[in-house]
Amino acid sequence: MESQVSKANILNGKELSVAILEQLKPRAAAIAKLNNDNPPGLATVLVGEDPASHVYVRNKRRACEKVGLTNFHYELEGNTGQAKLLALIDELNCNIEVDGILVQLPLPKGFDYDENEVLAAIAPTKDADGFHPQNQGALMQGTEAPVPCTPKGVMRLLDESGMQGSGKHAVVVGRSNIVGKPVAMLLLAQNFTVTICHSRTADLALEVSRADVVVAAVGVAKLIKGEWLKQGAVVLDVGINRGDDGKLVGDVDFDSACARASYITPVPGGVGPMTIAMLLSNTVEAAEQRLGL
Ligand code: GUN
Repeated sequence: MESQVSKANILNGKELSVAILEQLKPRAAAIAKLNNDNPPGLATVLVGEDPASHVYVRNKRRACEKVGLTNFHYELEGNTGQAKLLALIDELNCNIEVDGILVQLPLPKGFDYDENEVLAAIAPTKDADGFHPQNQGALMQGTEAPVPCTPKGVMRLLDESGMQGSGKHAVVVGRSNIVGKPVAMLLLAQNFTVTICHSRTADLALEVSRADVVVAAVGVAKLIKGEWLKQGAVVLDVGINRGDDGKLVGDVDFDSACARASYITPVPGGVGPMTIAMLLSNTVEAAEQRLGL
């Protein structure tokens, strides 16, 4: 077998996210000082028992504690129903101590939840996830609004690589509302020529081989092979999958990709921690805007 020399630079999201969270601390403290000792507040809403969602929300809550944000946490039974969930969102919209609202997705299947209706019920100014249709529209128009956290984190990591968009081709693998579509808009805004691939794309390997930047967000372990990559590509792996041995792996086959990529995000420790840093950043920004800072 051909030996694979690892030459890619690692884009360390864990380290970068710690630095970003550190920078948020004084901003949170300044808000508290101006606001009767109330720091920015993030409400986290978790519906049902999905184990991965519980882990993600726990990590978000821990980050709030580290940075000095107030966390208002709500755990609802899977069968709570749409009406009660909407009533809770309404209450949070009206609570002046809440600057950001996050409803963890996906909502449980088999009940009457309508995710789009839930996201549209969140006050756009408190939309820490940037999922409200008004904010998604602003992203398409290129106007100021909260930006979804994972795409924002991906762009921040891409920035570290120094890759500029003009004349370069970005391939996004995955077309979700949470990652694929918004990250494609952000890449376009940075002058990349963008291709979005998905499960019906005819020749994924061919599309990926043309990419200067690959964003992998499909949720299939090690789908993207190193041999597909253009030499020097920047690879941003959003996937969090369990490998056969139970370990976390991304959507990219990391070892083979390292031989071709110039920069690559590891899983874990790449995009994941950046999502949390961007969520807290959106919440602090919402509080600053509320206070006219
Ligand atoms: N599920 C997976 N990613 C996310 C995210 O960024 N925000 C929310 N609310 N749910 C998610």
